[in-house]
Amino acid sequence: MDKIIIFDTTLRDGEQSPGASLNINEKLEIAKQLAVLGVDVIEAGFPVSSPGDFEAVKIVAKSVKGPIVCGLARSLEKDIDYAYNAVKHSGRPRIHVFLATSKIHMKYKLKKAEDEILKLAVAAVKYAKTKCSDIEFSPEDASRTEHTFLHRVVEAVIGAGATTVNIPDTVGYATPFEFGELIKAIKNNVPNIDRCVISVHCHNDLGLAVSNSLAAVLNGARQVECTINGLGERAGNASLEEIVMGVRTRNDIFKALYTGVNTKELYKTSRLVSKLTGMPVQPNKAIVGSNAFAHESGIHQDGVLKERITYEIIKPDDVGFEETKIVLGKHSGRHAFLERIKRLGLDLKKDQIEEAFDRFKKLADKKKEVFDEDLETIVDEEISKIPEKFHLLHFYIASGDQVKPTASIKLKSRNKILEASSSGDGPVDACYKAVDKITGRTGSLLDYQIRSVTSGKDALGEVSVKVKSKGRIVSGRGASTDIIEASIKAYVNAVNKLVYKK
Ligand code: KIV
Ligand code: ZN
Repeated sequence: MDKIIIFDTTLRDGEQSPGASLNINEKLEIAKQLAVLGVDVIEAGFPVSSPGDFEAVKIVAKSVKGPIVCGLARSLEKDIDYAYNAVKHSGRPRIHVFLATSKIHMKYKLKKAEDEILKLAVAAVKYAKTKCSDIEFSPEDASRTEHTFLHRVVEAVIGAGATTVNIPDTVGYATPFEFGELIKAIKNNVPNIDRCVISVHCHNDLGLAVSNSLAAVLNGARQVECTINGLGERAGNASLEEIVMGVRTRNDIFKALYTGVNTKELYKTSRLVSKLTGMPVQPNKAIVGSNAFAHESGIHQDGVLKERITYEIIKPDDVGFEETKIVLGKHSGRHAFLERIKRLGLDLKKDQIEEAFDRFKKLADKKKEVFDEDLETIVDEEISKIPEKFHLLHFYIASGDQVKPTASIKLKSRNKILEASSSGDGPVDACYKAVDKITGRTGSLLDYQIRSVTSGKDALGEVSVKVKSKGRIVSGRGASTDIIEASIKAYVNAVNKLVYKK
């Protein structure tokens, strides 16, 4: 077996995501969780960049046991001193030195020629090596660097003592085949390459960061730099959870390769990072998005319920998700509906099933998602159903602060359609008076309660009423996404009980 070193840079490159800054305590909390997750290296920050970053790297180095703790430095003695002074508190310190090597960066940013860059890189690695044995070097913008020069730089920094050479696709420009070939060429052309670990660091500007990293792994890279939730400069870095699960799920391709990550901690880590950085995770994000294991279409739900692997390539539990989520909505079929009824321990007789399923479908047309509590209400109503002498067909209300509330109601009784209108103190009162006109009974309302069965603007409202008529008291219940409709249904239900009992 061949281990892929997982180098997490959430606290360094990830924190470079616009709007994702973290304070020292937050960084420490994330670093501790990264250790629980089982990453091999934590790049905790860029110590020279600010006193806060220096302190954060120092406290992570002091407090977090297990992973290597790394600090970033430009190829300058001052940066290297800062990085070392911050990471030296770790039992396993690393200094990560970088210098750009592409023509574009050398010409416009550094204004230096190749030979000068080469000298600076070697000098920086040599200087860092006097402080710390574990040295990583990154030729920044490697994927746009001229190949023979890149090979020269890599050979020289290994000669100077670098133990890891990281090949960054700094601007996310590479494509998978090309990037894989770049790693292969380094392996084949740099004579001392066996003395170091080849690492990759891919940005996601073309949405290819994970693909490029995995292509590099297939061509000999053994360290992948990545971040939780794919955070990072601009479009972000390769997402750690996708790299780890890609290697694990496709072990037919990655064969003897593995990571030391405890995948069951992935979801929890993702939530923590999202909460502390204030960067939400898109619902359809692979592995950790809230929809990653949610099935909405009837065909998919039926398949997953019969055999999970029909539509799932990863067990939700393996990444710390509680379970597959069957979202009951308008695309759901009878199988998913009945399965949920069974799981909720609800009992419906054969003849009640059709009716309840029909009501579920109607509700699903009005609501985005039908929750368990909605189903409980539907089933409850089916079970406690009494013969309906009156059934609500339609209603119309007019109400406002400047008009007297009025209501028109149409009820069906046997095969007749009965209609009446009334005004009232409010829309519900107007409806109830109109119902009284139709049914010929005057019920006095002793109690009226309304509650939202679930959360959200489209939640099902449930109304419970107590009605007194001719000395008898009955209760009635009705549910709908429209609270006036729920109110009328509850009242008509009470009236039906009065008629039935009589
Ligand atoms: O993207 C990049 O090139 C970097 C380096 C510092 C490794 O973040
Ligand atoms: Zn980067």
